[in-house]
Amino acid sequence: MNRLDKNRTRINVKEPMKMFEIQTKDKSKVDKRNHLNDLSAKEWIQETKSFFFQKGLGTNSPEAKYEKMHPAPFSFTDITKLVRFFTKKGGKVLDPFLGVGSTIKACLELEREGFGVELSPKWCEVTRQRLLEESNYEIDDEHLVCGDSRSLKDYFDKNFFDFIITSPPYWNILEKKDHKANERVLNGQATKYSENDFDLGNLPDYRKFLDELSTIFLNCYDILKPGKYMNIVVSDFRHKSEFVSFHADLIIKLTDKKLKKHFDLKGIKVLVQNAKKLYPYGYPFCYVENIHHQYILILEKSK
Ligand SMILES: C[S@@+](CC[C@H](N)C(=O)[O-])C[C@H]1O[C@@H](n2cnc3c(N)ncnc32)[C@H](O)[C@@H]1O
Repeated sequence: MNRLDKNRTRINVKEPMKMFEIQTKDKSKVDKRNHLNDLSAKEWIQETKSFFFQKGLGTNSPEAKYEKMHPAPFSFTDITKLVRFFTKKGGKVLDPFLGVGSTIKACLELEREGFGVELSPKWCEVTRQRLLEESNYEIDDEHLVCGDSRSLKDYFDKNFFDFIITSPPYWNILEKKDHKANERVLNGQATKYSENDFDLGNLPDYRKFLDELSTIFLNCYDILKPGKYMNIVVSDFRHKSEFVSFHADLIIKLTDKKLKKHFDLKGIKVLVQNAKKLYPYGYPFCYVENIHHQYILILEKSK
Protein backbone atom coordinates (compact mmCIF):
# COMPACT_ATOMS: atom_id res chain seq x y z
CA MET A 1 0.00 0.00 0.00
CA ASN A 2 1.54 3.37 -0.94
CA ARG A 3 1.25 6.54 1.24
CA LEU A 4 -1.74 7.82 -0.68
CA ASP A 5 -3.70 4.59 -0.20
CA LYS A 6 -2.88 4.57 3.50
CA ASN A 7 -4.28 8.08 3.91
CA ARG A 8 -7.36 7.21 1.93
CA THR A 9 -8.31 4.42 4.28
CA ARG A 10 -8.48 6.91 7.18
CA ILE A 11 -11.08 9.17 5.56
CA ASN A 12 -14.68 8.25 6.07
CA VAL A 13 -15.91 8.83 2.53
CA LYS A 14 -19.55 8.28 3.41
CA GLU A 15 -19.67 11.07 6.00
CA PRO A 16 -16.87 13.52 5.23
CA MET A 17 -18.64 16.41 7.01
CA LYS A 18 -18.60 14.56 10.33
CA MET A 19 -14.88 15.26 10.57
CA PHE A 20 -15.71 18.97 10.95
CA GLU A 21 -18.61 18.63 13.34
CA ILE A 22 -18.19 19.76 16.93
CA GLN A 23 -18.28 16.83 19.33
CA THR A 24 -20.10 18.73 22.10
CA LYS A 25 -23.46 17.54 23.35
CA ASP A 26 -24.87 20.99 24.04
CA LYS A 27 -23.65 23.53 21.49
CA SER A 28 -25.08 26.40 23.53
CA LYS A 29 -22.73 25.70 26.49
CA VAL A 30 -19.12 26.75 27.03
CA ASP A 31 -16.81 23.79 26.51
CA LYS A 32 -14.76 22.91 29.62
CA ARG A 33 -11.57 22.90 27.51
CA ASN A 34 -12.18 26.47 26.32
CA HIS A 35 -9.53 28.65 27.99
CA LEU A 36 -9.83 31.44 25.44
CA ASN A 37 -13.30 32.94 25.83
CA ASP A 38 -16.79 32.46 27.29
CA LEU A 39 -18.47 31.54 24.00
CA SER A 40 -20.54 28.51 23.28
CA ALA A 41 -19.68 26.36 20.25
CA LYS A 42 -22.42 28.05 18.22
CA GLU A 43 -21.17 31.57 19.02
CA TRP A 44 -17.51 30.62 18.49
CA ILE A 45 -18.03 29.35 14.93
CA GLN A 46 -19.84 32.55 13.87
CA GLU A 47 -16.87 34.64 14.97
CA THR A 48 -14.37 32.71 12.82
CA LYS A 49 -15.61 34.27 9.57
CA SER A 50 -12.82 36.14 7.82
CA PHE A 51 -14.86 39.34 7.50
CA PHE A 52 -17.45 41.44 9.27
CA PHE A 53 -19.29 44.66 8.50
CA GLN A 54 -18.39 47.80 10.42
CA LYS A 55 -21.13 48.78 12.83
CA GLY A 56 -20.80 52.48 13.57
CA LEU A 57 -22.80 54.15 16.30
CA GLY A 58 -24.59 56.46 13.89
CA THR A 59 -23.76 60.17 13.89
CA ASN A 60 -26.71 61.06 16.10
CA SER A 61 -25.93 58.58 18.83
CA PRO A 62 -24.99 60.35 22.08
CA GLU A 63 -22.15 57.83 22.45
CA ALA A 64 -20.59 59.05 19.17
CA LYS A 65 -19.79 62.45 20.71
CA TYR A 66 -16.31 61.56 21.98
CA GLU A 67 -15.37 59.24 19.10
CA LYS A 68 -16.15 62.08 16.68
CA MET A 69 -13.61 64.39 18.36
CA HIS A 70 -10.69 62.16 17.35
CA PRO A 71 -9.41 62.07 13.74
CA ALA A 72 -9.22 58.25 13.56
CA PRO A 73 -11.22 56.38 16.20
CA PHE A 74 -12.57 52.87 15.92
CA SER A 75 -16.08 52.19 17.02
CA PHE A 76 -16.19 50.50 20.42
CA THR A 77 -18.93 48.20 19.09
CA ASP A 78 -16.50 46.66 16.54
CA ILE A 79 -13.85 46.21 19.22
CA THR A 80 -16.36 44.57 21.57
CA LYS A 81 -16.68 41.69 19.07
CA LEU A 82 -12.93 41.03 19.17
CA VAL A 83 -12.51 41.47 22.93
CA ARG A 84 -15.39 39.03 23.46
CA PHE A 85 -13.75 36.39 21.27
CA PHE A 86 -10.18 36.72 22.54
CA THR A 87 -10.79 37.01 26.31
CA LYS A 88 -12.76 35.60 29.19
CA LYS A 89 -14.59 37.73 31.75
CA GLY A 90 -12.02 39.47 33.98
CA GLY A 91 -9.24 39.18 31.35
CA LYS A 92 -6.63 41.95 31.12
CA VAL A 93 -6.63 43.85 27.83
CA LEU A 94 -4.16 46.49 26.54
CA ASP A 95 -4.51 49.12 23.83
CA PRO A 96 -1.05 50.71 23.31
CA PHE A 97 -2.48 53.49 21.08
CA LEU A 98 -5.60 54.25 23.07
CA GLY A 99 -6.88 57.44 21.38
CA VAL A 100 -10.20 58.33 23.03
CA GLY A 101 -10.52 55.09 24.98
CA SER A 102 -12.82 52.96 22.78
CA THR A 103 -11.04 49.75 23.85
CA ILE A 104 -11.48 50.49 27.56
CA LYS A 105 -15.13 51.32 26.97
CA ALA A 106 -15.58 47.93 25.21
CA CYS A 107 -13.86 46.22 28.17
CA LEU A 108 -16.20 47.91 30.65
CA GLU A 109 -19.24 46.71 28.70
CA LEU A 110 -17.88 43.15 28.79
CA GLU A 111 -16.48 43.11 32.36
CA ARG A 112 -12.86 42.86 31.23
CA GLU A 113 -10.04 44.94 32.75
CA GLY A 114 -8.91 47.50 30.17
CA PHE A 115 -5.54 49.30 30.11
CA GLY A 116 -4.32 51.89 27.62
CA VAL A 117 -1.30 53.98 26.66
CA GLU A 118 -1.78 57.27 24.84
CA LEU A 119 0.89 59.87 24.10
CA SER A 120 -1.29 62.96 23.79
CA PRO A 121 -2.45 64.53 27.10
CA LYS A 122 -5.43 65.93 25.16
CA TRP A 123 -6.71 62.45 24.15
CA CYS A 124 -6.00 61.12 27.66
CA GLU A 125 -8.20 63.84 29.10
CA VAL A 126 -10.97 63.16 26.56
CA THR A 127 -10.77 59.44 27.48
CA ARG A 128 -11.11 60.26 31.18
CA GLN A 129 -14.16 62.45 30.57
CA ARG A 130 -15.71 59.94 28.18
CA LEU A 131 -15.39 56.98 30.54
CA LEU A 132 -16.78 59.01 33.42
CA GLU A 133 -19.71 60.38 31.43
CA GLU A 134 -20.62 57.27 29.42
CA SER A 135 -19.62 54.44 31.76
CA ASN A 136 -19.47 56.11 35.20
CA TYR A 137 -15.86 54.88 35.48
CA GLU A 138 -13.12 56.98 37.03
CA ILE A 139 -9.97 55.63 35.41
CA ASP A 140 -6.68 55.70 37.38
CA ASP A 141 -3.08 56.18 36.19
CA GLU A 142 -2.37 52.46 36.29
CA HIS A 143 -5.07 51.76 33.69
CA LEU A 144 -4.53 54.91 31.60
CA VAL A 145 -0.86 55.65 31.05
CA CYS A 146 -0.31 59.02 29.46
CA GLY A 147 3.04 58.21 27.84
CA ASP A 148 5.00 56.82 24.92
CA SER A 149 4.36 53.23 23.81
CA ARG A 150 8.07 52.86 23.13
CA SER A 151 8.34 52.33 26.93
CA LEU A 152 5.66 49.63 27.28
CA LYS A 153 8.06 47.32 29.09
CA ASP A 154 8.56 49.96 31.82
CA TYR A 155 4.83 50.33 32.37
CA PHE A 156 3.75 46.68 32.55
CA ASP A 157 5.05 43.35 33.88
CA LYS A 158 6.01 40.40 31.70
CA ASN A 159 3.21 37.98 30.74
CA PHE A 160 0.61 40.37 32.16
CA PHE A 161 -1.99 40.67 29.39
CA ASP A 162 -4.55 38.22 28.05
CA PHE A 163 -5.11 40.25 24.89
CA ILE A 164 -3.68 43.27 23.08
CA ILE A 165 -5.78 45.16 20.57
CA THR A 166 -5.09 48.45 18.87
CA SER A 167 -5.10 50.64 15.82
CA PRO A 168 -1.83 52.56 15.44
CA PRO A 169 -1.19 55.73 13.43
CA TYR A 170 -1.05 54.92 9.70
CA TRP A 171 2.21 56.78 9.20
CA ASN A 172 1.56 60.50 8.50
CA ILE A 173 -1.51 60.11 6.28
CA LEU A 174 -3.42 62.61 8.40
CA GLU A 175 -1.07 65.30 7.07
CA LYS A 176 -2.58 64.98 3.58
CA LYS A 177 -4.40 68.16 2.66
CA ASP A 178 -7.22 66.39 0.84
CA HIS A 179 -11.03 66.45 0.83
CA LYS A 180 -11.07 64.16 3.89
CA ALA A 181 -9.01 66.67 5.88
CA ASN A 182 -11.41 69.40 4.74
CA GLU A 183 -14.36 67.31 5.93
CA ARG A 184 -12.73 66.89 9.35
CA VAL A 185 -12.24 70.67 9.59
CA LEU A 186 -15.88 71.25 8.61
CA ASN A 187 -16.99 68.73 11.28
CA GLY A 188 -14.88 70.52 13.89
CA GLN A 189 -12.58 67.48 14.24
CA ALA A 190 -8.83 67.55 14.80
CA THR A 191 -6.80 66.94 11.63
CA LYS A 192 -3.83 65.29 13.36
CA TYR A 193 -3.18 63.53 16.66
CA SER A 194 -0.61 66.00 18.06
CA GLU A 195 2.44 68.12 17.25
CA ASN A 196 4.63 65.91 19.48
CA ASP A 197 7.86 64.63 17.86
CA PHE A 198 7.35 61.25 19.61
CA ASP A 199 3.97 60.86 17.88
CA LEU A 200 4.45 58.06 15.33
CA GLY A 201 2.04 59.89 13.04
CA ASN A 202 4.60 62.71 12.75
CA LEU A 203 7.54 60.64 11.44
CA PRO A 204 8.35 61.86 7.91
CA ASP A 205 10.04 58.67 6.64
CA TYR A 206 7.85 55.57 6.05
CA ARG A 207 10.66 53.01 6.63
CA LYS A 208 11.65 54.65 9.94
CA PHE A 209 7.99 54.75 10.96
CA LEU A 210 7.60 51.05 10.14
CA ASP A 211 10.76 50.14 12.12
CA GLU A 212 9.66 52.10 15.19
CA LEU A 213 6.09 50.81 15.09
CA SER A 214 7.15 47.19 14.68
CA THR A 215 9.62 47.52 17.57
CA ILE A 216 6.71 48.61 19.77
CA PHE A 217 4.62 45.62 18.63
CA LEU A 218 7.52 43.21 19.08
CA ASN A 219 7.90 44.55 22.65
CA CYS A 220 4.26 43.57 23.20
CA TYR A 221 5.52 39.98 22.95
CA ASP A 222 6.97 40.12 26.46
CA ILE A 223 3.96 41.63 28.21
CA LEU A 224 1.47 39.24 26.56
CA LYS A 225 0.86 35.82 28.14
CA PRO A 226 2.05 32.80 26.10
CA GLY A 227 -0.58 31.39 23.77
CA LYS A 228 -2.52 34.68 23.77
CA TYR A 229 -3.36 37.01 20.89
CA MET A 230 -2.69 40.49 19.59
CA ASN A 231 -5.05 42.12 17.05
CA ILE A 232 -3.89 45.10 14.98
CA VAL A 233 -6.43 47.10 12.99
CA VAL A 234 -4.76 48.70 9.96
CA SER A 235 -5.55 49.93 6.49
CA ASP A 236 -3.48 50.23 3.34
CA PHE A 237 -3.23 53.73 1.91
CA ARG A 238 -2.02 55.81 -1.01
CA HIS A 239 1.01 58.06 -0.83
CA LYS A 240 1.01 60.37 -3.84
CA SER A 241 0.54 57.92 -6.73
CA GLU A 242 1.91 54.90 -4.83
CA PHE A 243 -0.31 52.29 -3.16
CA VAL A 244 1.29 51.34 0.18
CA SER A 245 0.37 47.89 1.47
CA PHE A 246 0.89 48.81 5.10
CA HIS A 247 -0.76 45.65 6.45
CA ALA A 248 1.58 43.43 4.43
CA ASP A 249 4.68 45.42 5.48
CA LEU A 250 3.69 45.05 9.12
CA ILE A 251 3.08 41.30 8.84
CA ILE A 252 6.55 40.78 7.35
CA LYS A 253 8.13 42.68 10.26
CA LEU A 254 6.18 40.97 13.06
CA THR A 255 6.36 37.37 11.85
CA ASP A 256 10.05 37.26 10.87
CA LYS A 257 11.15 33.79 12.00
CA LYS A 258 14.76 34.96 12.23
CA LEU A 259 13.74 36.94 15.32
CA LYS A 260 13.71 35.06 18.63
CA LYS A 261 10.53 36.89 19.64
CA HIS A 262 8.16 36.94 16.68
CA PHE A 263 4.42 36.43 16.37
CA ASP A 264 2.60 33.72 14.43
CA LEU A 265 0.04 35.05 11.96
CA LYS A 266 -3.25 33.23 12.58
CA GLY A 267 -5.57 35.08 10.23
CA ILE A 268 -6.57 38.37 8.67
CA LYS A 269 -10.11 39.56 9.17
CA VAL A 270 -11.50 42.13 6.78
CA LEU A 271 -13.57 44.85 8.41
CA VAL A 272 -15.89 45.99 5.62
CA GLN A 273 -16.71 49.72 5.66
CA ASN A 274 -19.66 49.55 3.33
CA ALA A 275 -21.26 52.81 4.45
CA LYS A 276 -18.35 55.05 3.43
CA LYS A 277 -18.90 57.68 0.78
CA LEU A 278 -17.61 56.80 -2.73
CA TYR A 279 -15.37 59.30 -4.54
CA PRO A 280 -14.72 59.31 -8.32
CA TYR A 281 -10.94 59.00 -7.89
CA GLY A 282 -9.17 58.34 -11.19
CA TYR A 283 -12.36 58.54 -13.27
CA PRO A 284 -12.33 58.35 -16.33
CA PHE A 285 -8.62 57.61 -16.75
CA CYS A 286 -7.34 54.95 -14.40
CA TYR A 287 -8.10 52.64 -11.49
CA VAL A 288 -7.84 54.42 -8.15
CA GLU A 289 -9.39 52.50 -5.31
CA ASN A 290 -11.92 53.64 -2.75
CA ILE A 291 -10.36 51.81 0.19
CA HIS A 292 -13.46 50.76 2.10
CA HIS A 293 -12.07 48.13 4.43
CA GLN A 294 -9.58 47.68 7.23
CA TYR A 295 -7.54 44.60 8.04
CA ILE A 296 -7.46 43.03 11.48
CA LEU A 297 -4.17 41.17 11.79
CA ILE A 298 -4.59 38.26 14.18
CA LEU A 299 -1.25 37.35 15.73
CA GLU A 300 -0.44 34.81 18.41
CA LYS A 301 2.42 34.56 20.89
CA SER A 302 3.42 30.91 20.78
CA LYS A 303 2.64 28.78 23.85
C1 LIG B 1 -5.43 55.49 15.17
S1 LIG B 1 -5.34 56.37 16.68
C2 LIG B 1 -6.12 55.27 17.82
C3 LIG B 1 -7.57 55.58 17.99
C4 LIG B 1 -8.29 54.66 18.96
N1 LIG B 1 -8.41 53.32 18.42
C5 LIG B 1 -9.68 55.19 19.30
O1 LIG B 1 -10.69 54.53 19.04
O2 LIG B 1 -9.77 56.32 19.77
C6 LIG B 1 -3.66 56.30 17.13
C7 LIG B 1 -3.31 57.00 18.45
O3 LIG B 1 -1.93 56.75 18.75
C8 LIG B 1 -1.44 57.88 19.49
N2 LIG B 1 0.04 57.83 19.43
C9 LIG B 1 0.87 58.23 18.45
N3 LIG B 1 2.15 58.00 18.78
C10 LIG B 1 2.14 57.42 20.00
C11 LIG B 1 3.15 56.93 20.87
N4 LIG B 1 4.43 57.00 20.54
N5 LIG B 1 2.78 56.36 22.06
C12 LIG B 1 1.45 56.29 22.41
N6 LIG B 1 0.45 56.76 21.63
C13 LIG B 1 0.78 57.30 20.43
C14 LIG B 1 -2.07 59.07 18.79
O4 LIG B 1 -2.12 60.21 19.64
C15 LIG B 1 -3.48 58.51 18.45
O5 LIG B 1 -4.43 58.90 19.40
